[in-house]
Amino acid sequence: MTQAEDRILVQEHLAHRAEPKPLSASEKSDLETRIRQALKAEDAVLVAHYYTDPDIQRLAEETGGCVADSLEMARFGNQHKASTVVVAGVRFMGETAKILNPEKRVLMPTLEATCSLDIGCPADEFADFCDQHPDRTVVVYANTSAAVKARADWVVTSSCAQAICESLDARGEKILWAPDKHLGHYVRKTTGADMLLWDGSCIVHEEFKHRGLEDLKALYPDAAVLVHPESPDAVVEMADVVGSTSQLIHAVQTWPNQQFIVATDNGIFYKMQQLAPEKTLIEAPTAGNGATCRSCAHCPWMAMNGLENLLRVIEKGDQEVHVDPDLREKALRPLKRMLEFTASMNLKAAGNA
Ligand code: 13P
Ligand code: SF4
Repeated sequence: MTQAEDRILVQEHLAHRAEPKPLSASEKSDLETRIRQALKAEDAVLVAHYYTDPDIQRLAEETGGCVADSLEMARFGNQHKASTVVVAGVRFMGETAKILNPEKRVLMPTLEATCSLDIGCPADEFADFCDQHPDRTVVVYANTSAAVKARADWVVTSSCAQAICESLDARGEKILWAPDKHLGHYVRKTTGADMLLWDGSCIVHEEFKHRGLEDLKALYPDAAVLVHPESPDAVVEMADVVGSTSQLIHAVQTWPNQQFIVATDNGIFYKMQQLAPEKTLIEAPTAGNGATCRSCAHCPWMAMNGLENLLRVIEKGDQEVHVDPDLREKALRPLKRMLEFTASMNLKAAGNA
Protein backbone atom coordinates (compact mmCIF):
# COMPACT_ATOMS: atom_id res chain seq x y z
CA MET A 1 0.00 0.00 0.00
CA THR A 2 1.39 3.41 -0.93
CA GLN A 3 1.28 6.29 1.56
CA ALA A 4 -1.39 7.99 -0.59
CA GLU A 5 -3.57 4.85 -0.56
CA ASP A 6 -3.08 4.54 3.17
CA ARG A 7 -4.21 8.16 3.67
CA ILE A 8 -7.32 7.62 1.53
CA LEU A 9 -8.29 4.53 3.55
CA VAL A 10 -7.86 6.42 6.82
CA GLN A 11 -9.97 9.32 5.48
CA GLU A 12 -12.71 6.88 4.44
CA HIS A 13 -12.80 5.38 7.91
CA LEU A 14 -12.90 8.82 9.49
CA ALA A 15 -15.71 9.98 7.19
CA HIS A 16 -17.95 7.06 8.25
CA ARG A 17 -17.27 7.44 11.94
CA ALA A 18 -20.16 8.21 14.30
CA GLU A 19 -19.22 10.20 17.41
CA PRO A 20 -21.36 9.91 20.54
CA LYS A 21 -23.77 12.83 20.93
CA PRO A 22 -23.25 15.27 23.83
CA LEU A 23 -25.26 14.38 26.96
CA SER A 24 -26.79 16.47 29.72
CA ALA A 25 -25.74 15.85 33.35
CA SER A 26 -28.97 14.00 34.12
CA GLU A 27 -28.72 11.84 30.98
CA LYS A 28 -25.17 10.92 32.01
CA SER A 29 -26.12 10.05 35.53
CA ASP A 30 -29.04 7.91 34.35
CA LEU A 31 -26.81 6.06 31.85
CA GLU A 32 -24.10 5.51 34.46
CA THR A 33 -26.59 3.95 36.90
CA ARG A 34 -27.90 1.65 34.19
CA ILE A 35 -24.35 0.69 33.10
CA ARG A 36 -23.45 -0.27 36.68
CA GLN A 37 -26.57 -2.45 36.92
CA ALA A 38 -26.03 -4.00 33.49
CA LEU A 39 -22.39 -4.90 34.25
CA LYS A 40 -23.52 -6.78 37.36
CA ALA A 41 -26.44 -8.47 35.65
CA GLU A 42 -24.22 -9.70 32.80
CA ASP A 43 -21.24 -10.75 34.97
CA ALA A 44 -19.19 -8.27 32.94
CA VAL A 45 -16.07 -6.24 33.69
CA LEU A 46 -15.20 -2.95 31.99
CA VAL A 47 -11.63 -2.47 30.77
CA ALA A 48 -10.87 0.99 29.39
CA HIS A 49 -7.89 2.71 27.80
CA TYR A 50 -6.50 6.00 29.12
CA TYR A 51 -7.59 7.76 25.91
CA THR A 52 -11.31 7.08 26.37
CA ASP A 53 -13.80 9.58 27.74
CA PRO A 54 -13.21 10.39 31.45
CA ASP A 55 -16.78 9.24 32.26
CA ILE A 56 -15.91 5.78 30.94
CA GLN A 57 -12.56 5.70 32.74
CA ARG A 58 -14.28 6.63 36.02
CA LEU A 59 -16.96 3.96 35.56
CA ALA A 60 -14.35 1.29 34.84
CA GLU A 61 -12.56 2.10 38.08
CA GLU A 62 -15.69 2.43 40.21
CA THR A 63 -17.08 -0.90 39.04
CA GLY A 64 -13.94 -2.96 39.72
CA GLY A 65 -12.64 -2.92 36.15
CA CYS A 66 -9.49 -1.15 35.09
CA VAL A 67 -8.12 1.81 33.16
CA ALA A 68 -4.75 1.02 31.68
CA ASP A 69 -2.32 1.05 28.78
CA SER A 70 -2.71 -1.59 26.10
CA LEU A 71 -0.38 -4.10 27.81
CA GLU A 72 -2.14 -3.88 31.17
CA MET A 73 -5.56 -4.05 29.49
CA ALA A 74 -4.55 -7.37 27.96
CA ARG A 75 -3.21 -8.65 31.24
CA PHE A 76 -6.24 -7.55 33.27
CA GLY A 77 -8.82 -9.06 30.93
CA ASN A 78 -6.81 -12.28 30.96
CA GLN A 79 -6.76 -12.54 34.75
CA HIS A 80 -10.26 -11.35 35.67
CA LYS A 81 -12.90 -13.98 36.45
CA ALA A 82 -15.87 -12.21 34.77
CA SER A 83 -17.41 -14.18 31.90
CA THR A 84 -17.82 -11.04 29.76
CA VAL A 85 -15.07 -8.46 29.15
CA VAL A 86 -16.23 -5.09 27.82
CA VAL A 87 -13.33 -3.32 26.14
CA ALA A 88 -13.62 0.46 25.73
CA GLY A 89 -10.85 1.35 23.34
CA VAL A 90 -10.09 0.41 19.75
CA ARG A 91 -10.55 -2.86 17.88
CA PHE A 92 -7.08 -4.33 18.32
CA MET A 93 -7.60 -4.12 22.09
CA GLY A 94 -10.86 -6.07 21.84
CA GLU A 95 -9.26 -8.63 19.54
CA THR A 96 -6.33 -9.06 21.90
CA ALA A 97 -8.76 -9.71 24.76
CA LYS A 98 -10.58 -12.33 22.66
CA ILE A 99 -7.37 -14.04 21.54
CA LEU A 100 -6.26 -14.38 25.15
CA ASN A 101 -9.73 -15.37 26.42
CA PRO A 102 -11.55 -17.41 23.78
CA GLU A 103 -13.96 -18.80 26.36
CA LYS A 104 -15.11 -15.31 27.36
CA ARG A 105 -17.54 -13.05 25.58
CA VAL A 106 -15.71 -9.87 24.53
CA LEU A 107 -17.82 -6.82 23.73
CA MET A 108 -16.95 -3.31 22.56
CA PRO A 109 -19.14 -0.17 22.48
CA THR A 110 -18.46 -0.14 18.74
CA LEU A 111 -16.51 -2.51 16.54
CA GLU A 112 -15.98 0.39 14.12
CA ALA A 113 -13.34 1.96 16.39
CA THR A 114 -10.11 1.19 14.59
CA CYS A 115 -6.57 2.62 14.48
CA SER A 116 -4.56 4.15 11.63
CA LEU A 117 -1.71 1.71 12.34
CA ASP A 118 -4.05 -1.25 11.93
CA ILE A 119 -5.57 0.22 8.73
CA GLY A 120 -2.11 0.88 7.30
CA CYS A 121 -0.91 -2.71 7.69
CA PRO A 122 -3.14 -5.08 5.67
CA ALA A 123 -2.43 -8.74 6.46
CA ASP A 124 -1.79 -9.85 2.85
CA GLU A 125 0.73 -7.09 2.11
CA PHE A 126 2.37 -7.69 5.46
CA ALA A 127 2.68 -11.42 4.70
CA ASP A 128 4.44 -10.56 1.38
CA PHE A 129 6.84 -8.28 3.26
CA CYS A 130 7.63 -11.10 5.72
CA ASP A 131 8.09 -13.59 2.87
CA GLN A 132 10.69 -11.29 1.33
CA HIS A 133 12.73 -11.32 4.56
CA PRO A 134 12.63 -14.88 5.91
CA ASP A 135 15.86 -14.34 7.87
CA ARG A 136 14.25 -11.76 10.19
CA THR A 137 12.35 -12.23 13.44
CA VAL A 138 8.93 -10.65 12.98
CA VAL A 139 7.99 -8.21 15.75
CA VAL A 140 4.63 -6.44 15.52
CA TYR A 141 3.15 -3.68 17.61
CA ALA A 142 -0.07 -4.59 19.43
CA ASN A 143 -1.91 -2.00 17.27
CA THR A 144 -2.49 -4.56 14.50
CA SER A 145 -5.17 -7.02 13.41
CA ALA A 146 -5.31 -10.62 14.62
CA ALA A 147 -4.25 -11.69 11.10
CA VAL A 148 -1.05 -9.61 11.28
CA LYS A 149 -0.30 -10.90 14.78
CA ALA A 150 -0.79 -14.43 13.48
CA ARG A 151 2.18 -13.89 11.17
CA ALA A 152 4.44 -12.56 13.97
CA ASP A 153 7.05 -14.13 16.22
CA TRP A 154 6.53 -11.45 18.86
CA VAL A 155 3.88 -8.90 19.76
CA VAL A 156 5.02 -5.83 21.72
CA THR A 157 3.42 -2.68 23.14
CA SER A 158 5.18 0.63 23.65
CA SER A 159 5.93 -0.28 27.25
CA CYS A 160 7.98 -3.38 26.37
CA ALA A 161 9.12 -2.86 22.75
CA GLN A 162 12.60 -1.69 23.72
CA ALA A 163 13.26 -4.50 26.21
CA ILE A 164 12.05 -7.21 23.83
CA CYS A 165 13.98 -5.90 20.80
CA GLU A 166 17.09 -5.48 22.95
CA SER A 167 16.90 -9.10 24.05
CA LEU A 168 16.37 -10.30 20.45
CA ASP A 169 19.35 -8.21 19.37
CA ALA A 170 21.46 -9.71 22.16
CA ARG A 171 20.60 -13.15 20.72
CA GLY A 172 21.88 -11.97 17.33
CA GLU A 173 18.44 -11.84 15.72
CA LYS A 174 17.62 -9.33 12.98
CA ILE A 175 14.16 -7.80 13.27
CA LEU A 176 11.36 -7.06 10.84
CA TRP A 177 9.22 -4.42 12.56
CA ALA A 178 5.66 -3.26 11.86
CA PRO A 179 3.71 -1.09 11.60
CA ASP A 180 4.68 2.14 13.43
CA LYS A 181 7.78 3.65 11.82
CA HIS A 182 8.27 6.24 14.56
CA LEU A 183 8.23 3.75 17.43
CA GLY A 184 10.37 1.41 15.30
CA HIS A 185 12.88 4.19 14.65
CA TYR A 186 13.00 5.05 18.35
CA VAL A 187 13.58 1.41 19.36
CA ARG A 188 16.25 0.98 16.68
CA LYS A 189 18.04 4.14 17.81
CA THR A 190 17.97 3.27 21.51
CA THR A 191 18.83 -0.43 21.22
CA GLY A 192 21.08 -0.46 18.15
CA ALA A 193 19.15 -3.51 16.91
CA ASP A 194 19.09 -4.32 13.18
CA MET A 195 15.48 -3.43 12.33
CA LEU A 196 13.71 -3.22 9.01
CA LEU A 197 10.66 -0.94 9.38
CA TRP A 198 7.17 -1.01 7.88
CA ASP A 199 5.97 2.47 6.87
CA GLY A 200 2.97 3.09 9.15
CA SER A 201 2.06 5.85 11.58
CA CYS A 202 -0.48 7.05 14.10
CA ILE A 203 -2.51 10.01 12.84
CA VAL A 204 -2.77 11.44 16.36
CA HIS A 205 0.89 11.42 17.37
CA GLU A 206 2.14 12.33 13.92
CA GLU A 207 0.49 15.73 14.36
CA PHE A 208 2.76 16.85 17.20
CA LYS A 209 5.01 19.62 15.93
CA HIS A 210 8.63 20.05 16.87
CA ARG A 211 8.72 23.82 16.15
CA GLY A 212 5.61 24.47 18.21
CA LEU A 213 7.02 22.38 21.03
CA GLU A 214 10.20 24.46 21.03
CA ASP A 215 8.11 27.65 21.34
CA LEU A 216 6.07 26.15 24.17
CA LYS A 217 9.19 24.98 25.99
CA ALA A 218 10.55 28.55 25.78
CA LEU A 219 7.35 29.75 27.51
CA TYR A 220 7.59 27.03 30.19
CA PRO A 221 11.32 26.40 30.62
CA ASP A 222 10.84 24.41 33.84
CA ALA A 223 8.29 22.03 32.37
CA ALA A 224 9.28 18.41 31.76
CA VAL A 225 8.40 17.19 28.27
CA LEU A 226 6.62 13.82 28.11
CA VAL A 227 6.34 12.12 24.72
CA HIS A 228 4.71 8.90 23.51
CA PRO A 229 7.15 7.18 21.10
CA GLU A 230 4.58 7.08 18.26
CA SER A 231 5.52 10.77 17.79
CA PRO A 232 7.95 11.93 15.09
CA ASP A 233 11.67 11.72 15.86
CA ALA A 234 12.19 15.50 16.19
CA VAL A 235 9.49 15.58 18.92
CA VAL A 236 10.89 12.49 20.68
CA GLU A 237 14.33 14.17 20.63
CA MET A 238 12.96 16.98 22.80
CA ALA A 239 11.52 14.64 25.45
CA ASP A 240 12.62 14.32 29.05
CA VAL A 241 10.61 11.10 29.23
CA VAL A 242 9.64 8.86 26.32
CA GLY A 243 7.21 6.11 27.23
CA SER A 244 3.92 4.29 27.02
CA THR A 245 0.80 5.90 28.44
CA SER A 246 1.39 4.24 31.86
CA GLN A 247 5.02 5.32 31.90
CA LEU A 248 4.08 8.94 31.13
CA ILE A 249 1.48 8.93 33.92
CA HIS A 250 4.09 7.54 36.29
CA ALA A 251 6.45 10.38 35.31
CA VAL A 252 3.88 13.03 36.23
CA GLN A 253 3.57 11.43 39.67
CA THR A 254 7.26 10.93 40.36
CA TRP A 255 9.16 13.76 38.64
CA PRO A 256 9.72 16.84 40.83
CA ASN A 257 8.64 19.31 38.11
CA GLN A 258 5.43 21.29 38.65
CA GLN A 259 4.64 21.61 34.94
CA PHE A 260 4.50 18.98 32.21
CA ILE A 261 4.13 19.37 28.47
CA VAL A 262 2.41 16.21 27.27
CA ALA A 263 2.70 14.89 23.71
CA THR A 264 0.08 12.16 23.58
CA ASP A 265 -3.72 11.87 23.33
CA ASN A 266 -5.30 14.35 25.75
CA GLY A 267 -7.64 11.68 27.16
CA ILE A 268 -4.68 10.80 29.38
CA PHE A 269 -5.04 14.10 31.28
CA TYR A 270 -7.93 12.69 33.30
CA LYS A 271 -5.75 10.05 34.97
CA MET A 272 -2.69 12.31 35.24
CA GLN A 273 -4.70 15.02 36.98
CA GLN A 274 -6.40 12.49 39.25
CA LEU A 275 -3.07 11.06 40.43
CA ALA A 276 -1.20 14.37 40.59
CA PRO A 277 -3.79 17.14 41.14
CA GLU A 278 -1.14 19.68 42.15
CA LYS A 279 0.71 19.44 38.81
CA THR A 280 0.03 21.61 35.75
CA LEU A 281 -0.45 19.77 32.46
CA ILE A 282 0.03 21.48 29.12
CA GLU A 283 -0.96 19.97 25.77
CA ALA A 284 1.89 19.71 23.29
CA PRO A 285 1.08 21.67 20.13
CA THR A 286 -0.38 20.16 16.97
CA ALA A 287 -1.11 22.08 13.78
CA GLY A 288 -4.41 23.06 15.40
CA ASN A 289 -8.05 22.83 14.45
CA GLY A 290 -8.74 24.01 10.93
CA ALA A 291 -5.18 23.42 9.77
CA THR A 292 -3.95 20.03 8.55
CA CYS A 293 -4.75 18.43 11.87
CA ARG A 294 -6.77 15.26 11.45
CA SER A 295 -7.03 14.48 15.14
CA CYS A 296 -5.77 17.40 17.26
CA ALA A 297 -4.40 15.33 20.13
CA HIS A 298 -7.45 13.14 20.50
CA CYS A 299 -7.83 9.81 18.77
CA PRO A 300 -10.97 9.95 16.60
CA TRP A 301 -11.58 6.24 17.10
CA MET A 302 -11.16 6.25 20.87
CA ALA A 303 -13.70 9.10 20.82
CA MET A 304 -16.33 6.72 19.39
CA ASN A 305 -16.70 5.09 22.81
CA GLY A 306 -19.57 6.77 24.69
CA LEU A 307 -21.94 6.02 27.54
CA GLU A 308 -24.89 5.30 25.24
CA ASN A 309 -23.18 2.71 23.05
CA LEU A 310 -21.51 1.26 26.15
CA LEU A 311 -24.87 0.63 27.81
CA ARG A 312 -26.38 -0.70 24.59
CA VAL A 313 -23.66 -3.28 24.06
CA ILE A 314 -23.77 -4.56 27.64
CA GLU A 315 -27.56 -4.91 27.46
CA LYS A 316 -27.81 -6.22 23.91
CA GLY A 317 -24.40 -7.82 23.28
CA ASP A 318 -24.61 -6.78 19.64
CA GLN A 319 -20.99 -5.64 19.17
CA GLU A 320 -19.20 -8.85 20.02
CA VAL A 321 -15.59 -9.45 18.99
CA HIS A 322 -15.00 -12.70 17.09
CA VAL A 323 -11.62 -13.98 15.93
CA ASP A 324 -11.23 -16.85 13.48
CA PRO A 325 -10.09 -19.88 15.56
CA ASP A 326 -7.15 -20.69 13.28
CA LEU A 327 -5.89 -17.09 13.35
CA ARG A 328 -6.48 -16.98 17.09
CA GLU A 329 -4.27 -19.98 17.70
CA LYS A 330 -1.47 -18.48 15.62
CA ALA A 331 -1.80 -14.98 17.15
CA LEU A 332 -1.83 -16.39 20.67
CA ARG A 333 1.80 -17.57 20.50
CA PRO A 334 3.46 -14.15 19.99
CA LEU A 335 1.04 -12.53 22.44
CA LYS A 336 1.82 -15.11 25.12
CA ARG A 337 5.53 -14.59 24.53
CA MET A 338 5.07 -10.89 25.25
CA LEU A 339 3.08 -11.57 28.43
CA GLU A 340 5.64 -14.10 29.67
CA PHE A 341 8.55 -11.80 28.84
CA THR A 342 6.99 -8.82 30.62
CA ALA A 343 6.00 -10.94 33.63
CA SER A 344 9.64 -12.02 34.04
CA MET A 345 10.76 -8.39 33.51
CA ASN A 346 8.44 -7.33 36.37
CA LEU A 347 9.71 -10.16 38.59
CA LYS A 348 13.32 -9.09 37.99
CA ALA A 349 12.42 -5.44 38.72
CA ALA A 350 10.67 -6.48 41.95
CA GLY A 351 13.73 -8.58 42.92
CA ASN A 352 16.03 -5.61 42.43
CA ALA A 353 13.79 -3.21 44.35
P1 13P B 1 -0.15 2.38 25.02
O1 13P B 1 0.24 0.95 24.84
O2 13P B 1 0.97 3.24 25.48
O3 13P B 1 -1.36 2.47 25.89
O4 13P B 1 -0.52 2.98 23.60
C1 13P B 1 -1.56 2.51 22.83
C2 13P B 1 -1.88 3.47 21.76
O5 13P B 1 -2.69 3.20 20.90
C3 13P B 1 -1.15 4.72 21.73
O6 13P B 1 -1.59 5.52 20.70
FE1 SF4 C 1 -4.15 4.10 16.90
FE2 SF4 C 1 -3.06 6.46 17.23
FE3 SF4 C 1 -5.56 6.05 18.02
FE4 SF4 C 1 -3.47 4.93 19.37
S1 SF4 C 1 -3.95 7.11 19.17
S2 SF4 C 1 -5.38 3.93 18.77
S3 SF4 C 1 -2.10 4.50 17.65
S4 SF4 C 1 -4.79 6.00 15.89
